[in-house]
Amino acid sequence: MMGKILVIGSLNMDMVMQVDHMPAEGETILCDEMKLVPGGKGANQACAAGKLGVDVTMFGAVGRDSYADIQMNSLAAAGVDTSGILRKDGVNTGTAFITVNRRGNNSIVVVPGANSAFTPDDIEKNRNLIEACEILILQLEIPLDTVCYAAKLAKSLGKTVLLDPAPVPEYFPEELYQYVDIIKPNETELSKLTGIVNAQDHLSEAVQILKNPGVKNVLVTLGEKGVYLDAEGKEACHIPARKVTAVDTTAAGDSFTAALAAMLLEGKTLYEAAEFANRVSAIVVTREGAQSSIPTLQEVLENKSE
Ligand code: RIB
Repeated sequence: MMGKILVIGSLNMDMVMQVDHMPAEGETILCDEMKLVPGGKGANQACAAGKLGVDVTMFGAVGRDSYADIQMNSLAAAGVDTSGILRKDGVNTGTAFITVNRRGNNSIVVVPGANSAFTPDDIEKNRNLIEACEILILQLEIPLDTVCYAAKLAKSLGKTVLLDPAPVPEYFPEELYQYVDIIKPNETELSKLTGIVNAQDHLSEAVQILKNPGVKNVLVTLGEKGVYLDAEGKEACHIPARKVTAVDTTAAGDSFTAALAAMLLEGKTLYEAAEFANRVSAIVVTREGAQSSIPTLQEVLENKSE
Protein backbone atom coordinates (compact mmCIF):
# COMPACT_ATOMS: atom_id res chain seq x y z
CA MET A 1 0.00 0.00 0.00
CA MET A 2 1.15 3.53 -0.78
CA GLY A 3 2.26 5.70 2.16
CA LYS A 4 0.62 8.56 3.91
CA ILE A 5 1.01 12.34 3.97
CA LEU A 6 0.60 14.28 7.19
CA VAL A 7 -0.07 18.00 7.01
CA ILE A 8 0.57 19.93 10.20
CA GLY A 9 -0.58 23.52 10.00
CA SER A 10 -3.27 26.15 9.91
CA LEU A 11 -7.00 25.96 9.28
CA ASN A 12 -8.84 29.22 8.53
CA MET A 13 -12.18 30.46 7.38
CA ASP A 14 -11.48 32.76 4.44
CA MET A 15 -13.60 35.88 3.93
CA VAL A 16 -13.07 36.61 0.29
CA MET A 17 -13.80 39.93 -1.41
CA GLN A 18 -13.40 40.45 -5.15
CA VAL A 19 -12.27 44.05 -5.67
CA ASP A 20 -11.23 46.16 -8.60
CA HIS A 21 -7.97 47.09 -6.87
CA MET A 22 -6.49 46.66 -3.40
CA PRO A 23 -7.48 49.55 -1.12
CA ALA A 24 -4.61 52.01 -0.72
CA GLU A 25 -3.66 53.48 2.64
CA GLY A 26 -6.53 55.74 3.79
CA GLU A 27 -8.82 54.56 0.97
CA THR A 28 -12.29 53.02 1.40
CA ILE A 29 -13.63 50.82 -1.40
CA LEU A 30 -16.89 48.90 -1.89
CA CYS A 31 -17.37 45.32 -2.99
CA ASP A 32 -20.64 43.54 -3.89
CA GLU A 33 -20.28 40.44 -1.81
CA MET A 34 -18.17 38.61 0.78
CA LYS A 35 -17.79 34.85 0.34
CA LEU A 36 -16.94 32.40 3.12
CA VAL A 37 -14.56 29.73 1.85
CA PRO A 38 -12.66 27.12 3.88
CA GLY A 39 -8.95 27.93 3.73
CA GLY A 40 -5.74 28.10 5.72
CA LYS A 41 -2.45 27.05 4.17
CA GLY A 42 -2.32 23.77 6.05
CA ALA A 43 -5.94 22.84 5.43
CA ASN A 44 -5.65 23.80 1.74
CA GLN A 45 -2.68 21.47 1.36
CA ALA A 46 -4.50 18.61 3.06
CA CYS A 47 -7.57 19.27 0.91
CA ALA A 48 -5.48 19.23 -2.28
CA ALA A 49 -3.74 15.98 -1.33
CA GLY A 50 -7.13 14.43 -0.54
CA LYS A 51 -8.64 15.54 -3.85
CA LEU A 52 -5.65 14.04 -5.64
CA GLY A 53 -6.54 10.72 -4.07
CA VAL A 54 -3.74 10.52 -1.51
CA ASP A 55 -4.07 9.02 1.98
CA VAL A 56 -3.71 12.24 3.99
CA THR A 57 -4.21 13.34 7.58
CA MET A 58 -4.64 16.93 8.74
CA PHE A 59 -3.37 17.93 12.17
CA GLY A 60 -3.99 21.39 13.59
CA ALA A 61 -6.35 23.30 15.83
CA VAL A 62 -9.75 24.95 15.43
CA GLY A 63 -12.21 26.52 17.86
CA ARG A 64 -15.60 25.22 18.93
CA ASP A 65 -17.53 27.29 16.39
CA SER A 66 -19.44 26.93 13.15
CA TYR A 67 -16.40 27.91 11.05
CA ALA A 68 -14.68 24.81 12.40
CA ASP A 69 -17.65 22.67 11.31
CA ILE A 70 -17.54 24.10 7.78
CA GLN A 71 -13.81 23.43 7.61
CA MET A 72 -14.14 19.86 8.90
CA ASN A 73 -16.88 19.12 6.37
CA SER A 74 -14.82 20.51 3.50
CA LEU A 75 -11.79 18.41 4.42
CA ALA A 76 -13.84 15.29 5.02
CA ALA A 77 -15.51 15.73 1.61
CA ALA A 78 -12.02 15.83 0.07
CA GLY A 79 -11.19 12.52 1.74
CA VAL A 80 -8.92 13.95 4.44
CA ASP A 81 -8.63 12.21 7.82
CA THR A 82 -9.68 14.96 10.24
CA SER A 83 -9.94 12.80 13.36
CA GLY A 84 -6.78 14.25 14.93
CA ILE A 85 -7.76 17.92 14.56
CA LEU A 86 -7.99 19.53 18.00
CA ARG A 87 -10.96 21.64 19.08
CA LYS A 88 -9.61 24.26 21.47
CA ASP A 89 -11.72 25.99 24.14
CA GLY A 90 -11.88 29.76 24.43
CA VAL A 91 -10.49 30.57 20.97
CA ASN A 92 -12.09 31.11 17.58
CA THR A 93 -11.19 29.19 14.46
CA GLY A 94 -8.60 31.14 12.47
CA THR A 95 -9.91 33.62 9.92
CA ALA A 96 -8.36 35.21 6.85
CA PHE A 97 -9.51 38.40 5.15
CA ILE A 98 -8.68 38.18 1.47
CA THR A 99 -9.03 40.78 -1.24
CA VAL A 100 -8.61 39.56 -4.81
CA ASN A 101 -8.06 42.17 -7.51
CA ARG A 102 -9.14 41.97 -11.13
CA ARG A 103 -5.80 40.49 -12.16
CA GLY A 104 -6.44 37.58 -9.75
CA ASN A 105 -3.76 38.61 -7.27
CA ASN A 106 -4.61 38.61 -3.60
CA SER A 107 -3.62 40.24 -0.35
CA ILE A 108 -4.35 38.41 2.88
CA VAL A 109 -4.62 39.31 6.56
CA VAL A 110 -4.78 36.26 8.85
CA VAL A 111 -6.18 36.30 12.38
CA PRO A 112 -4.70 33.02 13.65
CA GLY A 113 -7.12 32.31 16.53
CA ALA A 114 -6.93 28.62 17.43
CA ASN A 115 -3.88 28.17 15.16
CA SER A 116 -1.91 30.18 17.76
CA ALA A 117 -2.96 27.79 20.50
CA PHE A 118 -1.43 24.76 18.75
CA THR A 119 1.61 23.82 20.84
CA PRO A 120 4.68 21.54 20.77
CA ASP A 121 2.94 19.59 23.52
CA ASP A 122 0.04 18.90 21.12
CA ILE A 123 2.60 17.47 18.69
CA GLU A 124 4.27 15.34 21.36
CA LYS A 125 0.95 13.94 22.58
CA ASN A 126 0.04 12.99 19.02
CA ARG A 127 3.46 11.83 17.82
CA ASN A 128 1.78 8.68 16.49
CA LEU A 129 0.53 10.81 13.58
CA ILE A 130 4.11 11.62 12.60
CA GLU A 131 5.19 8.03 13.14
CA ALA A 132 2.48 6.89 10.72
CA CYS A 133 3.37 9.18 7.79
CA GLU A 134 6.03 9.07 5.07
CA ILE A 135 5.96 12.76 4.20
CA LEU A 136 5.29 15.62 6.61
CA ILE A 137 4.22 18.96 5.13
CA LEU A 138 4.62 22.12 7.21
CA GLN A 139 3.99 25.84 6.67
CA LEU A 140 4.45 28.81 9.00
CA GLU A 141 0.95 29.91 10.03
CA ILE A 142 1.16 28.11 13.38
CA PRO A 143 3.62 28.90 16.20
CA LEU A 144 7.22 28.49 15.06
CA ASP A 145 8.22 26.41 18.08
CA THR A 146 5.45 23.97 17.12
CA VAL A 147 6.76 23.81 13.55
CA CYS A 148 10.32 23.23 14.75
CA TYR A 149 9.23 20.55 17.21
CA ALA A 150 7.28 18.67 14.54
CA ALA A 151 10.07 18.96 11.97
CA LYS A 152 12.73 17.79 14.42
CA LEU A 153 10.64 14.82 15.52
CA ALA A 154 9.81 13.83 11.95
CA LYS A 155 13.46 14.10 10.90
CA SER A 156 14.56 11.95 13.87
CA LEU A 157 12.06 9.32 12.73
CA GLY A 158 13.47 9.34 9.18
CA LYS A 159 10.46 11.03 7.55
CA THR A 160 10.65 13.34 4.55
CA VAL A 161 10.00 16.92 5.70
CA LEU A 162 8.62 19.37 3.13
CA LEU A 163 8.45 23.00 4.24
CA ASP A 164 6.34 25.63 2.51
CA PRO A 165 7.83 28.71 4.24
CA ALA A 166 4.69 30.82 4.12
CA PRO A 167 4.32 33.35 5.52
CA VAL A 168 7.98 34.12 6.29
CA PRO A 169 8.13 35.48 9.85
CA GLU A 170 10.18 38.49 10.87
CA TYR A 171 12.61 36.15 12.65
CA PHE A 172 12.93 32.86 10.81
CA PRO A 173 14.17 30.07 13.12
CA GLU A 174 17.44 29.07 11.41
CA GLU A 175 17.40 25.80 13.39
CA LEU A 176 14.53 24.64 11.18
CA TYR A 177 16.68 24.29 8.02
CA GLN A 178 18.55 21.26 9.38
CA TYR A 179 15.29 19.29 9.67
CA VAL A 180 13.96 20.14 6.20
CA ASP A 181 14.51 17.92 3.13
CA ILE A 182 12.62 20.06 0.62
CA ILE A 183 11.78 23.76 0.84
CA LYS A 184 9.39 25.50 -1.52
CA PRO A 185 9.40 29.30 -1.27
CA ASN A 186 7.84 31.62 -3.84
CA GLU A 187 9.95 34.52 -5.09
CA THR A 188 8.80 36.91 -2.34
CA GLU A 189 9.49 34.36 0.37
CA LEU A 190 12.89 33.61 -1.14
CA SER A 191 13.79 37.30 -0.90
CA LYS A 192 12.65 37.47 2.72
CA LEU A 193 14.48 34.28 3.71
CA THR A 194 17.75 35.25 2.07
CA GLY A 195 17.74 39.04 2.39
CA ILE A 196 18.38 39.28 -1.37
CA VAL A 197 16.21 41.95 -2.99
CA ASN A 198 14.52 40.62 -6.16
CA ALA A 199 15.79 37.12 -5.43
CA GLN A 200 14.09 35.88 -8.62
CA ASP A 201 16.87 37.64 -10.55
CA HIS A 202 19.60 35.94 -8.46
CA LEU A 203 18.16 32.45 -8.11
CA SER A 204 21.29 30.32 -7.83
CA GLU A 205 22.87 32.68 -5.29
CA ALA A 206 19.66 32.85 -3.21
CA VAL A 207 19.05 29.11 -3.36
CA GLN A 208 22.59 28.45 -2.17
CA ILE A 209 21.82 30.43 1.00
CA LEU A 210 19.06 27.91 1.78
CA LYS A 211 21.22 24.93 0.87
CA ASN A 212 24.18 25.96 3.05
CA PRO A 213 22.44 25.16 6.38
CA GLY A 214 21.49 21.72 5.10
CA VAL A 215 18.36 21.82 2.89
CA LYS A 216 19.13 19.49 -0.01
CA ASN A 217 16.27 20.33 -2.34
CA VAL A 218 14.91 23.78 -3.18
CA LEU A 219 11.99 24.62 -5.45
CA VAL A 220 11.13 28.25 -6.07
CA THR A 221 7.69 28.93 -7.53
CA LEU A 222 7.77 31.94 -9.83
CA GLY A 223 4.10 32.32 -10.76
CA GLU A 224 3.59 32.57 -14.51
CA LYS A 225 7.38 32.12 -14.96
CA GLY A 226 7.17 28.54 -13.67
CA VAL A 227 9.45 26.82 -11.19
CA TYR A 228 13.19 26.84 -10.49
CA LEU A 229 14.35 23.48 -9.20
CA ASP A 230 17.66 22.78 -7.49
CA ALA A 231 17.52 19.10 -6.50
CA GLU A 232 20.23 17.09 -4.77
CA GLY A 233 22.75 15.62 -7.19
CA LYS A 234 21.16 17.28 -10.25
CA GLU A 235 21.88 20.41 -12.20
CA ALA A 236 19.48 23.24 -11.34
CA CYS A 237 16.78 23.72 -13.95
CA HIS A 238 13.71 25.71 -14.87
CA ILE A 239 10.28 24.19 -15.45
CA PRO A 240 7.91 26.46 -17.41
CA ALA A 241 4.39 27.19 -16.14
CA ARG A 242 1.19 26.38 -18.04
CA LYS A 243 -0.35 29.35 -19.83
CA VAL A 244 -3.66 30.28 -18.21
CA THR A 245 -5.60 33.42 -17.35
CA ALA A 246 -5.61 33.87 -13.58
CA VAL A 247 -8.89 34.65 -11.83
CA ASP A 248 -7.73 34.11 -8.25
CA THR A 249 -4.29 32.86 -7.23
CA THR A 250 -5.37 31.92 -3.68
CA ALA A 251 -4.20 28.39 -2.71
CA ALA A 252 -2.10 27.97 -5.87
CA GLY A 253 1.06 27.62 -3.77
CA ASP A 254 -0.65 25.35 -1.25
CA SER A 255 -1.92 23.08 -4.01
CA PHE A 256 1.51 23.01 -5.64
CA THR A 257 3.07 21.82 -2.38
CA ALA A 258 0.45 19.12 -1.85
CA ALA A 259 0.65 17.90 -5.44
CA LEU A 260 4.43 17.75 -5.19
CA ALA A 261 4.20 15.59 -2.06
CA ALA A 262 1.53 13.38 -3.64
CA MET A 263 3.80 12.60 -6.59
CA LEU A 264 6.86 12.02 -4.41
CA LEU A 265 4.81 9.53 -2.44
CA GLU A 266 4.19 7.72 -5.73
CA GLY A 267 7.92 7.49 -6.28
CA LYS A 268 8.22 10.24 -8.92
CA THR A 269 11.34 12.39 -9.13
CA LEU A 270 11.25 15.97 -7.91
CA TYR A 271 11.27 17.13 -11.53
CA GLU A 272 8.30 14.95 -12.46
CA ALA A 273 6.50 15.93 -9.26
CA ALA A 274 7.05 19.64 -9.93
CA GLU A 275 5.74 19.31 -13.49
CA PHE A 276 2.58 17.69 -12.18
CA ALA A 277 2.25 20.29 -9.40
CA ASN A 278 2.47 23.01 -12.06
CA ARG A 279 -0.54 21.46 -13.80
CA VAL A 280 -2.54 21.44 -10.56
CA SER A 281 -1.73 25.09 -9.72
CA ALA A 282 -2.58 26.15 -13.26
CA ILE A 283 -6.14 24.95 -12.68
CA VAL A 284 -6.38 26.44 -9.18
CA VAL A 285 -5.64 29.98 -10.44
CA THR A 286 -8.49 29.80 -12.94
CA ARG A 287 -11.06 29.29 -10.16
CA GLU A 288 -12.23 31.39 -7.20
CA GLY A 289 -11.38 30.77 -3.56
CA ALA A 290 -9.09 28.45 -1.65
CA GLN A 291 -10.41 24.91 -1.17
CA SER A 292 -13.21 25.68 -3.65
CA SER A 293 -10.61 26.03 -6.42
CA ILE A 294 -8.71 22.78 -5.93
CA PRO A 295 -9.19 20.15 -8.66
CA THR A 296 -9.62 16.40 -8.31
CA LEU A 297 -7.09 14.04 -9.89
CA GLN A 298 -9.60 13.32 -12.64
CA GLU A 299 -9.91 17.04 -13.45
CA VAL A 300 -6.11 17.40 -13.60
CA LEU A 301 -5.78 14.44 -15.94
CA GLU A 302 -8.54 15.75 -18.22
CA ASN A 303 -7.18 19.31 -18.33
CA LYS A 304 -5.52 20.21 -21.60
CA SER A 305 -3.88 23.58 -20.80
CA GLU A 306 -0.38 23.86 -22.27
O1 RIB B 1 -2.49 30.33 0.88
C1 RIB B 1 -3.81 30.77 0.92
C2 RIB B 1 -4.31 30.79 2.34
O2 RIB B 1 -3.57 31.72 3.08
C3 RIB B 1 -5.74 31.21 2.51
O3 RIB B 1 -6.65 30.16 2.39
C4 RIB B 1 -5.75 31.91 3.85
O4 RIB B 1 -6.50 31.24 4.82
C5 RIB B 1 -4.28 32.03 4.26
O5 RIB B 1 -3.93 31.08 5.18
